[in-house]
Amino acid sequence: MESCRSFLLLFFTWSFLFLCSHQLPSSQTQVLLQLRKHLEYPNQLEIWKDHTIDFCSISSSALVNITCLDNLVIELRIKGDKPSKISGFNGFSIPNQTLSEAFSLDSFVTTLARLASLKVLSLVSLGIWGQLPDKIHRLTSLEYLDLSSNFLFGSVPPRISAMVKLQTLAMDDNFLNGTIPNWFDSLSSLSTLSLRNNQLKGPLLDLSSLSSLEILDLSGNKLNSLLPSMPIGLVMLVLGNNSFSGEIPQEYRKLRVLQHLDMSFNTLTGTPLAALFSLPNISYLNLASNLFSGSFSGHLSCGSKLDFVDISNNSLTGDLPSCLRTESEKRVVKFRGNCLSVSMQKQHPQSYCNELVTPKKKQSGGKDVGILVGVILGIFVLLVLLVLSLVIFCRRYLPRGVSEQHLLHKPVQDNPVAVGFSTEMLTNARFISQSAKAGMQGLPGCRAFSLEELVDATRNFDNSAFLGEGSYGKLYKGRLENGIQVVIRCLLVSKKYTIRNLKLRLDLLAKLRHPHLVCLLGHCLDGGGDDYSVNKVYLVSEYVPNGTFRAKLSGIGSRPEKVLNWPRRLSVLIGVAKAVHFLHTGIIPGFFSNRLKMNNILLNEHDNAKLSDYGLSIISEETDKSMANEGHKSWQMKSLEDDAYSFGYILLEAVVGASISARREAFLLKDMATLNSQEGRKQLVEPIVLATCSQQSLSIVISIMNKCISPEASRPSFEDILWNLQYAVQVQATADGDNRYDTHR
Ligand SMILES: *[C@@H]1O[C@H](CO)[C@@H](O)[C@H](O)[C@H]1NC(C)=O
Ligand SMILES: *[C@@H]1O[C@H](CO)[C@@H](O)[C@H](O)[C@H]1NC(C)=O
Ligand SMILES: *[C@@H]1O[C@H](CO)[C@@H](O)[C@H](O)[C@H]1NC(C)=O
Ligand SMILES: *[C@@H]1O[C@H](CO)[C@@H](O)[C@H](O)[C@H]1NC(C)=O
Ligand SMILES: *[C@@H]1O[C@H](CO)[C@@H](O)[C@H](O)[C@H]1NC(C)=O
Ligand SMILES: *[C@@H]1O[C@H](CO)[C@@H](O)[C@H](O)[C@H]1NC(C)=O
Repeated sequence: MESCRSFLLLFFTWSFLFLCSHQLPSSQTQVLLQLRKHLEYPNQLEIWKDHTIDFCSISSSALVNITCLDNLVIELRIKGDKPSKISGFNGFSIPNQTLSEAFSLDSFVTTLARLASLKVLSLVSLGIWGQLPDKIHRLTSLEYLDLSSNFLFGSVPPRISAMVKLQTLAMDDNFLNGTIPNWFDSLSSLSTLSLRNNQLKGPLLDLSSLSSLEILDLSGNKLNSLLPSMPIGLVMLVLGNNSFSGEIPQEYRKLRVLQHLDMSFNTLTGTPLAALFSLPNISYLNLASNLFSGSFSGHLSCGSKLDFVDISNNSLTGDLPSCLRTESEKRVVKFRGNCLSVSMQKQHPQSYCNELVTPKKKQSGGKDVGILVGVILGIFVLLVLLVLSLVIFCRRYLPRGVSEQHLLHKPVQDNPVAVGFSTEMLTNARFISQSAKAGMQGLPGCRAFSLEELVDATRNFDNSAFLGEGSYGKLYKGRLENGIQVVIRCLLVSKKYTIRNLKLRLDLLAKLRHPHLVCLLGHCLDGGGDDYSVNKVYLVSEYVPNGTFRAKLSGIGSRPEKVLNWPRRLSVLIGVAKAVHFLHTGIIPGFFSNRLKMNNILLNEHDNAKLSDYGLSIISEETDKSMANEGHKSWQMKSLEDDAYSFGYILLEAVVGASISARREAFLLKDMATLNSQEGRKQLVEPIVLATCSQQSLSIVISIMNKCISPEASRPSFEDILWNLQYAVQVQATADGDNRYDTHR
C-alpha cells in the first residue's frame, strides 16, 4: 500500500514536471536543437543540452536570448565568439574560424524558417559561412535581422524585398561581394540598413523611396557611383571608405534631421556643400580625405549642435569660416592637410592644391588618346582579319562545323523536354561543388565500347538477354569479358546531331556521377557502316541487382518480412531525392525534367536507391509511349516535366501503395484530403507503413507530398524535399529510440 502511494506520488510529480517542461511545442524545441547542431554545438548553447528545460524560461544572458509569445519563439539572439574579418577567406570554411565544411547555410536557413513567428533574429560572430539563400524571406514576420560578423558572401538575396515588416537589416563585417540591391523600395518599414565592411561594389541607386530609413551605413565597401538621392528622414548617413565620386548633391540640404554624416575616404570633388554645416541637428560631419577643393564662402554658419568637423586631407583653399576656427571649446575641428590660409594645423603650400585641382593629365592627354586609338584600331583590324580567315577556312574544310551550332541550339525550340544545351555549355559543363565530385569517387570510369564487345556481352542481343523496354530504348542484360554484369540500352538517336555534337552530349552524360545514380560505364556509337552519321547509341551502365523499389513496396515475389518498412522506405526516398538534387544543382548545366518514375528507382544489393533513365532527353527524343498515348493535355501533362511533381507521386506510392496511387487524378480529388486525418490514414496508408511509422514522421512526408503534387507551379525545391525527408527520418529515429526505451523499462 505504502509503496503504491509513493509510486502514485512519484508518477504525478513526474507527469507534472513533464507537462511543465514542455511548454514550447516539441516542434519548436526540435528546431532549436537542430539549430544548435547546425551551429556545431557552440559553448553558448551548452545549456540547451538538457532537452527537458523550457527554452522560453531560460533567463537571458549577454550571449543568448530567447523570447516566446503564446508558446512560439519570437526572438532569438545568439552571439558567438568566432573571430570576424580574418584575411584570406575565399568562400570556403577555415578551421577554427568558420563553421566546418559540413555546414550548409541553405539547410540552416531552411531549419530556421520553421520558427515562422520569429520577429527578432540576431546571429552574430557564429562563423556562419556561405551565400545567404533567398528562402530567408520565409521568415515573413521578421522585423529585426542581424547577421553581422559572419562569413556571408555573394549578394544580399533579392527576396528579402518580400520581408515587408523588416525594420532593421544588418550584415556588417561579412564578405558580401555583390552589388547593392535596387529592390529595397518595398521595405517601407525599414529604418536601419547597415552593410558596413563588406565588399559590395557597383553603384548605389536612389534610396529616397525608403521612407522610414533613419540609419544608413554602407561604409567600408567598394561602391563607386555618384551620391544618390537619400530619404529625407535620415538621421545617420555613413558612406566612408568607398569610392564615391562627384559633388555632394544640392538636395542633401533637405536632410533636415540629419545628425551624423560621414563621407570620409572617398573621391568626392567640388566645394563641400555649405548647407550641411548649418543643418539644425547636425552634430558630426566628416568629409576628410576626399578631393574637395575651392574655398568656403565667408558667410558659412554652423548648426548649434555641431561638435565635430573633419575636413582634413582635401585641397581646400582660402579662409576657414569663423565658426570652424577651433576657438570654440565645444567644437572639435580638424583641417590639416589642406591649403587653407591659416597658420594652425599643418597646411600644404597653395601650389599643392592647385596641382591636384588642375590635373597634369590634360597636357599629355592628346598624345595618350592618339596612341590609344592607334592600338585599338590595330587590334580591331587584326581581329577582323583573323575572323575572316577562320570563316574562309571553315567554309572550305569543315562543311559540317558551321551548321553544328545551329543544330545544337535547335532542340531547345522543338523539344521542350530536352534542356537547351549550347556547345559552350556542353564543353564547359562542370561540377558545382567539391562534394559532388567527391561523391563519384569509387565509381568506375566511363569509356568507349566497341560494338563487338557488346555483341559478345549479349550473345548478339539474344532474346534471352532482353530485359524490356524503358522510357528510352530497349534494354539488354550482358556480361563483359571481365565478368562484370551490365545493362546495355539501345537508343535511336535524333538525326540532327553530328557525331561531334553527340559525343559532347555523351561526355556530359558521363559527368553525371552520383552514388544514387545508376552509373554509366560507357557508350558505343553505331553508324550502321556509315562513318559520318550515327543511328544508334548503346549506353552501357552498371547492373543493379535487387529489382525496383515498386516491387519491394508491394512485396511481389518476396516474403512478407522482406516488404520495406517505413524507415527503409524513407532511406530509399532520400537517396532518390539526393540524386535529383544533384542533377538539378550539382552540375552546370543542371538537368531538369528527368521524368521520375517508380520503375526507374532500382535497389542495389544493400537496398540503396539508384535512379536510372535520367538525363537521356539530351540525346534521344524517344519518350514513354504509354504516357504520350494517354493524350493528356491538362496541367498534369505539363507538370510531369516538373521533377518535384513526379516525385510527389513517388512519395504517394511509398505511403499508400501502388493500387491506390495508380488512380492519380481521381485520387487527387477525393482522397488527398482524407490523408490529413487520422481516420483517413488508417484506411489509405499501407498497413506495413502504419505499423512502422510514427505519426509525426508520416505527417511530415504527407505534408511535403501535398506541396509536390500541388497543381500550382510553386512546388518545393529538392533541397527542401530532401530536408523534409531527413527531418522525417530524425523524428522517426527519435520515436523508435523512445519506443525501444519504453519496452526495456
Ligand atoms: C540579451 O538581452 C540582454 C538584456 O536585454 C542584453 O543585455 C544582451 O545583450 C542580449 N543578448 C544578445 C545576444 O543579444
Ligand atoms: C564573391 O566571393 C566569393 C568567395 O570569395 C567568390 O567565389 C565569388 O566569385 C565572388 N563573387 C564576385 C561577384 O566577386
Ligand atoms: C583549433 O583550435 C584547437 C583548440 O583551440 C586547437 O587545438 C587546434 O590546433 C586548432 N586548429 C587549427 C587548425 O588552428
Ligand atoms: C575607414 O577606414 C579607417 C581605417 O581602416 C577607419 O579607421 C575608419 O573608421 C573608417 N571609416 C569609416 C567611416 O568606416
Ligand atoms: C533634433 O533632434 C532632437 C532630438 O535629438 C529632436 O527632438 C528634434 O525633433 C530634431 N530636430 C529636427 C529639426 O529634426
Ligand atoms: C591625413 O593624411 C595624413 C598623411 O597622409 C595622415 O597621417 C592622416 O591620418 C590623415 N588624416 C585623416 C583624417 O585622414
